[in-house]
Amino acid sequence: MRLALLGCGTVGSEVVRLLHEQAADLAARIGAPLEIAGIAVRRLGRDRGDLPVDPTLFTTDALGLIKRDDVDVVVEVVGGIEPARGWLVEALRAGKSVVTANKALLAEDGAALHDAAAEGGGDLYYEASVAGAIPLLRPLRESLHGDRINRVTGIVNGTTNFILSAMDATGAGFAEALEEATELGYAEADPTADVEGFDAAAKAAILASLAFHTRVGAADVHREGITEVTAADVASAKAMGCTIKLLCIAARGADAAGRETVSVRVHPAMIPLGHPLASVGDAFNAVFVEAEAAGPLMFYGRGAGGAPTASAVLGDVVAVSRNRLAGVRSASESAYADLPVRPMGEALTRYHISLDVADRPGVLEAVAGVFARHDVSIATVRQGPAGGGAAGRGEDADLVIVTHVAPDAALAATVRELRGLDIVRSVASVLRVEGGL
Ligand code: NDP
Ligand code: HSE
Repeated sequence: MRLALLGCGTVGSEVVRLLHEQAADLAARIGAPLEIAGIAVRRLGRDRGDLPVDPTLFTTDALGLIKRDDVDVVVEVVGGIEPARGWLVEALRAGKSVVTANKALLAEDGAALHDAAAEGGGDLYYEASVAGAIPLLRPLRESLHGDRINRVTGIVNGTTNFILSAMDATGAGFAEALEEATELGYAEADPTADVEGFDAAAKAAILASLAFHTRVGAADVHREGITEVTAADVASAKAMGCTIKLLCIAARGADAAGRETVSVRVHPAMIPLGHPLASVGDAFNAVFVEAEAAGPLMFYGRGAGGAPTASAVLGDVVAVSRNRLAGVRSASESAYADLPVRPMGEALTRYHISLDVADRPGVLEAVAGVFARHDVSIATVRQGPAGGGAAGRGEDADLVIVTHVAPDAALAATVRELRGLDIVRSVASVLRVEGGL
């Protein structure tokens, strides 16, 4: 099996190292030795340390490498939309098998890749694109194909989980925690993709596509990042026995006419400390899958970093290589259900709202009236002196309201109207709540 490696950065260099260290085992598992035909990179002169590979294999001509007749499998660990899309479509149409970790591309235009794979007859595997080392996509696309998945809830971005965990545990500032995540190789080349939720949204789209047999793209996912989560939010969550996580939630539902739909969203949310996802710290990922017959399933492990991601890449390389030797290919894309994606406004969620209000008669009634007008039911109300101390500031009060489940649009309209009341000095924080509280 001759392999073209596109990219030799955080993930690619670990793929090279593992291919070298485990050469004999991999050959035995596949039934033929795996050889690197070439490695495409951007900078030939880059110092790659003591990478165990022949330096003459490096090239900047990725397309030329892909087109070579002696290449069977193309492994793409470059990232981004172009030129990766052009390369992979070319490889797949030519009948080569492709292994990629590129969630951005799969969420942006997975259809182009699946269509090219169907045309060329090769395999398209992408286990490393979601939740790094965790075997998750294969269970969704194979093991659970006899079941019906109703909901997928997960922490699928290591960088933001690292940052939120650090903010929660040590009180570290956002910038400091992000710098450390970048040094550890968790963050994307441009960390905006992580902290603004684009990376998690891409993964959510891939998970929803597999779980619901429906093409879901990045544009279908409601996305909010963690840049607006403050130390005060983290402290407020703590005071309520909760923690804040960036969650990806993909769920089946129904529209007003009773037709089946899916909703896919990524946003920070407060979850109680007793929730299984609350204890997922550091750059770890965890994904909860709720299936009709199987019940709840939990997948947990390292979601980012060179070696964990390379483990998933190599697992795919072994699978596609075995298929090629046997002259077969895996099942193609399953998108037959083609369910409509519901807008975020219709998603059913709960809000935790902290208000700084005037402390005088009638304020609670006025605030409760806003919730009632939008048909949002209040679950709990907690009031204390503004500033938290026993005496407080005297004229203001802190009001913390947690709602029952309501459509997101009704909750958002409630917050908009609250912001316009003169008795509301400020809306200190608005966070969605998942799990019981
Ligand atoms: P890096 O930025 O560390 O590496 C990118 C590699 O691609 C480098 O070797 C770079 O070359 C090469 N490259 C960039 N542009 C070109 C080009 N135009 N032509 C040829 N080569 C090019 O990225 P990562 O290894 O972190 O990520 C790779 C992929 O894996 C991405 O899709 C990412 O989303 C995904 N991923 C990453 C994880 C992680 O933890 N890092 C986890 C899961 C998925 P050069 O070395 O010369 O700069
Ligand atoms: N930047 C990504 C993360 C890498 O932090 O999860 C893994 O996909």
